[in-house]
Amino acid sequence: MTGFERWGAMMARTLYGPGGFYTRELPGRHFATSAQTPVFAEAVARLVDEVDERLGRPAAFTVLDVGAGGGELLERLAGLLDERIALRAVELRPRPEHLPARVAWGAEVPETVEGLLIACELLDNVPCDVAVVDADGRIRYEEVNGQGETRLGGPVSAEDAAWLAEWWPIGEPGEKAEIGLPREAKWRDLTARLVRGTALAIDYGHMKERRPPAGTMNGFRDGREIPPVPDGTRDITAHVAVDAVECDHRERQRDALLRLGLDATLPPVHLAFQNPVGYAHALAAASAAARLTDPEGLGAHWWLRTDRD
Ligand SMILES: C[S@@+](CC[C@H](N)C(=O)[O-])C[C@H]1O[C@@H](n2cnc3c(N)ncnc32)[C@H](O)[C@@H]1O
Repeated sequence: MTGFERWGAMMARTLYGPGGFYTRELPGRHFATSAQTPVFAEAVARLVDEVDERLGRPAAFTVLDVGAGGGELLERLAGLLDERIALRAVELRPRPEHLPARVAWGAEVPETVEGLLIACELLDNVPCDVAVVDADGRIRYEEVNGQGETRLGGPVSAEDAAWLAEWWPIGEPGEKAEIGLPREAKWRDLTARLVRGTALAIDYGHMKERRPPAGTMNGFRDGREIPPVPDGTRDITAHVAVDAVECDHRERQRDALLRLGLDATLPPVHLAFQNPVGYAHALAAASAAARLTDPEGLGAHWWLRTDRD
């Protein structure tokens, strides 16, 4: 294993470098996201319809899923949207075998996008550095090794210091912050490609008035939260400082999905006797909707939206 490096470099290498976590592993095998849920795809299909209508139902309309993981969202959208709507994944992982032929797959982000650009739980995986306040009150980078041990590194750059002062001020010895600049740059680059339509980033995050004092760097594997040891065997993720990400509109997933008609109402019990299979389906959909809109869970995720007409 290598020695100590800053978190950003460690994340980049152990998630995306040769043999890195995401080069091998299917996200859905390790953690559940909104995009893996069928009723979420139904809500996104309604959003596509809204954007399509707003644009006047153009001949070319693409749903571009950036960081598409196992392609679950696009696979379901293929069954919900008519053939005029092009479906395209941007993903570093290989194309899943079972995907319908109409879903295009590749690692490159197209120069321009017209339609809906969606990125579900992408920004939290964009590598970023961690800053920590030392015993003398100076702000330094935190460095980490492949065993998850940390130590103080050099002082933060002027650019990072300015970002911290504006977005995530830390001052007490031991306080930590994840520096959001690479996430913001990633999202700026993606939204710059949007010619007409909507760009939507969905992620967990926090706002300036409630930053977590110890930071949020975390690990996931096999459905469990585990220590963020950057050894290539786990997802390493940190919440997004969502107010620092440029967008037109910011809201919680719960509000966005309820507006798009997601319904967590339980089906009437008599349906269980009249149509047991229908009842089971309705029950599964209602419980998935409840999970997606849970204010303490996925419902608290942020939808960062930019519209261009
Ligand atoms: C947390 S997973 C989310 C997958 C899916 N969107 C979902 O919500 O289930 C993040 C995905 O983003 C992909 N990814 C990260 N950086 C990327 C990049 N620069 N280009 C394309 N894919 C990227 C990873 O390979 C991984 O599959």
